[in-house]
Amino acid sequence: MNDIMRSLQSFAIGILLICSFTVEGQSSGQTKMDNFISALMKKMTLDEKIGQLNLVTPGGAVTGAVVSEDVDTKIRNGQVGGLFGITGPDKIRRAQEIAVKNSRLHIPLIFGLDVIHGHRTIFPIPLGLSASWDTSLIKRSARIAANEATADGLNWVYSPMVDIARDPRWGRIAEGSGEDPFLGSQIAKAMVEGYQGDDLSKDSTVMACVKHYALYGAAEAGRDYNTVDMSKVRMYNEYLPPYKAAVDAGVGSVMTSFNTVDGIPASANRFLLTDVLRKQWGFRGLIVSDYTSISEMINHGFGDLQAVSAKSLNAGMDMDMVSEGFLSTLKKSLQEGKVSLQKIEDACRKVLEAKYKLGLFDDPYRYCNDEKAKSELMSDSNLQAAREIAERSFVLLKNENKILPLKKSGTIALIGPLADNKRNMLGTWSVSGDPEKSVTIMQGIKNVAGNEVKILYAKGANISDDTMLIERVNVFGTEIDVDSKSPDEMLNEAVETANKADVVVAVLGEAADMTGESSSMSHIGLQPDQQNLLKALVKTGKPVVLVLMNGRPMTLTWEDEHVPAILDTWFGGTEAGNAVADVLFGEYNPSGKITATFPRNVGQIPIYYNHLNTGRPYHPGDSPKFKSDYLDVLNSPLYPFGFGLSYTTFSYSNISLDNSILQSGGKITASVNVTNTGTRKGKETVQMYTRQMVGSIARPVKELKGFKQITLEPGETQKVSFTLSVNDLKFYNSDLKYVAEPGDFTLFIGTNSADVKEADFKLK
Ligand code: BGC
Repeated sequence: MNDIMRSLQSFAIGILLICSFTVEGQSSGQTKMDNFISALMKKMTLDEKIGQLNLVTPGGAVTGAVVSEDVDTKIRNGQVGGLFGITGPDKIRRAQEIAVKNSRLHIPLIFGLDVIHGHRTIFPIPLGLSASWDTSLIKRSARIAANEATADGLNWVYSPMVDIARDPRWGRIAEGSGEDPFLGSQIAKAMVEGYQGDDLSKDSTVMACVKHYALYGAAEAGRDYNTVDMSKVRMYNEYLPPYKAAVDAGVGSVMTSFNTVDGIPASANRFLLTDVLRKQWGFRGLIVSDYTSISEMINHGFGDLQAVSAKSLNAGMDMDMVSEGFLSTLKKSLQEGKVSLQKIEDACRKVLEAKYKLGLFDDPYRYCNDEKAKSELMSDSNLQAAREIAERSFVLLKNENKILPLKKSGTIALIGPLADNKRNMLGTWSVSGDPEKSVTIMQGIKNVAGNEVKILYAKGANISDDTMLIERVNVFGTEIDVDSKSPDEMLNEAVETANKADVVVAVLGEAADMTGESSSMSHIGLQPDQQNLLKALVKTGKPVVLVLMNGRPMTLTWEDEHVPAILDTWFGGTEAGNAVADVLFGEYNPSGKITATFPRNVGQIPIYYNHLNTGRPYHPGDSPKFKSDYLDVLNSPLYPFGFGLSYTTFSYSNISLDNSILQSGGKITASVNVTNTGTRKGKETVQMYTRQMVGSIARPVKELKGFKQITLEPGETQKVSFTLSVNDLKFYNSDLKYVAEPGDFTLFIGTNSADVKEADFKLK
């Protein structure tokens, strides 16, 4: 029997055994899957079982050393369970064919990739997406990403990244949803649902992978990969909820993080992987390490490759990304009694289950459809969605004298190193995005403004002139290009250009890879030459609009004081230029709100709205001595969590509760009237927070518990209501019991975390 016949026969057996989970119901589906996998595992040798635990990349988008060599031979030998870092139905089909036709048991591979904020059509970076506060919009972005990824041969995406981040020095703050566990959890759920749909075996759904479990965002000093150490109470209440929300939403896989937790690296942390994830949360999917996070435990001081691999498996890891420690050492560890066969088999079963659920035993080429690739990737409707989604992610931070929106007439001086720069539009982790296909802000303004607007352009400054920074940022290509003109020449040219215009639009900020992995910064303001440029532009006396491109909250104290209008556009993706222009000219009235606090200076970090009170809180107006404050800066942030302006204004009035007592088992409804007091239609995100006044442990001064989006015509008032039950007031106490404690509460509703109306109630 030739190879093809043999593989066809094995599929036929697979098809007979497989029955869709959704059709037959969970338990019979589960039994069928168990039987199928048990039968398959009976045929597998120990080496083949260990081979399934090996996840390799043949190169491409790598974030560390490439360990795997001769990947084709390994696949043929049954030493690879999955591949990541390749795209395209043809390439993936080729790799799949090696597994399915040439390996002894014809077990298909899974194919993963970092599809983080879109695949070929790139959406705003996740921090920007979160600023939309629109979970259905975010879900839609994940759905489109899944459609494109599956059209490109993939079936596994390393997203959502849900690490709570309160330190904007940490470059990876760009990849998540900011600082809040409640909002972060809602977004985690939306993304998992968007990627996975209702049936993983469909050819348009992918298995999601929530990451980086756990607490990666709390790296000390905001330095990537650094130590994490925190109390269990903080862990459970503030950092774990979004991972749990993803698990509750049925996420198929979980990726561990690089950091230590309680002194033990997450990738060998039994408490995290087994006690919390498997036992407390009931997670039944696949656990995968991060890129070489198993072998990196050698540096953590956990032993040699054999020792760290055994520790990782024993802690609960299923699949080893790139380290090849499982492949090269587990057999020896089994012989030496350092791991059990049961552990290896359990892990192997998890990998095979993922493949089964994805329908790969049924049809290993399910995701390799050339026709679909042609029609789906960067389709007109995907690009249109990217434009709409980007518009909704932008945050208007300041708009003095209603300088925005701009008129579609007159002369605009478009200035700045990011104003006409395709390379930096997509932001970090856009591995399959094509910067050449991105719309620059210059192009967007031309598209939207029409012929009545004259545009004059000058670069004005380099993104940075710091040679060390340039070298480090440009490792994967030139994001910061140094102009042949000197900084002085560029600046003078920009000032001359500004003097000829009615208004200046300065597009400044960061290069795409000044945030993302391994992109921590100790200075998070504009780079010196950009700030000089901005100062010179302001000095011309022309009205200046600062359009920021950035992957983190930046320190903008000078800018806030001196520049009349600031629009934060993050990295808006493929259609960012059009979307920015839509907002600048008022085609879309900005509605985004920041999801991570903007500090006044780096010394305030970590700074976040849901902090605990101290015994000596400082209130503005108090005598500051012996209070918890700074001598040289206020406690308050520059822009608080939840802040964002609109071209219209909203006022809040008449906060009321239908009952001042919440009976356990009952509900109360809180309402507020929101009025559009401006002259344009606008969208507002109404935010509801609570504070438990007395608790068995110190409780945050505010915690987000709900939000609603409304659109109001000028002059229109709407009553917005939130319902609260005892469940909404639960938290983990010092015994890690999830409880609500009777007593006094304050409820706040407002336009951001600092500007709220309040009402009191009691929990009985
Ligand atoms: C990152 C992950 C990513 C993985 C695979 C790692 O360096 O931390 O977020 O999914 O590489 O590319």
